[in-house]
Amino acid sequence: MQEGSIYDLISQARDSIVGQMRITPRIGLILGSGLGALADDLEDAQVIPYTTIPGFHAPKVPGHRGELAIGHLSGQPVAVLRGRFHFYEGYSMQEVAFPVRVLQAIGCTTLIITNAAGGLRPEWHVGDIMRIRDQIFLPGLAGHHPLRGPNDDRLGPRFPAMVGAFENDLVPIAHTVAASQGIPLREGVYCMLSGPAFESAAELRMLQGWGADAVGMSTAPEVVVAVHAGMQVLGFSLITNLALPDGAPANHAEVLAAGEAAKPRFSALIRGILAHL
Ligand code: 6GU
Repeated sequence: MQEGSIYDLISQARDSIVGQMRITPRIGLILGSGLGALADDLEDAQVIPYTTIPGFHAPKVPGHRGELAIGHLSGQPVAVLRGRFHFYEGYSMQEVAFPVRVLQAIGCTTLIITNAAGGLRPEWHVGDIMRIRDQIFLPGLAGHHPLRGPNDDRLGPRFPAMVGAFENDLVPIAHTVAASQGIPLREGVYCMLSGPAFESAAELRMLQGWGADAVGMSTAPEVVVAVHAGMQVLGFSLITNLALPDGAPANHAEVLAAGEAAKPRFSALIRGILAHL
């Protein structure tokens, strides 16, 4: 990320977007592998390519696009990031989380974030949806943290608390909507690894011992920055494969296929939650 003030870069990105905005979005959505199509359903959609937004890049991962879409979904004013930046692609944690700052700067007070994840519990199934109850940000604990460096008090506090990051009024709504749609919503701890290699068997055993229920390569830095910025967060993992020490190795094709298969259910859940806000 360019030297100079992140605050100034956020302001530039905000100004470039707000200048074209017809509505003020209140809810930001970040959609994981295969789930980006939800954004195709936006009404009155206004689509802004990442390449035109200061501080944004063009995504490189298949299944991820690169545009910000602003419009209505289930009657709510939303801003959807179609495509996200991953640490394993070589971006810094600041770059990965930057779009969250911009969502907040253009009016979003809530972040709904989803990902594809490997399930660490043998009794879970491909296609399960897990509400993220808490997270383990392993790269962050090891020093790859988006808030490392001088703190800009205009953006948030020096030492933000992460306890309770996923606790807010959206949680009971998510459960009510899931129940009404017949979706058995799981809850669990998401652990982010930097990737890009999938875990060894010993690493999977370690993660299980730590109390992680799902493992993936995204989301945690965006959540930390959202909390720093004072947003409320609702997170979901789609279990695209089981990540078990004695199981078959994970592969990217099965992750994309499971995302594709779960799209209607996952989309219905998000739309239903939005309708209840
Ligand atoms: Cl990071 N690991 C495994 N084993 N499966 C996954 C994943 C990671 N992300 C999606 N599926």
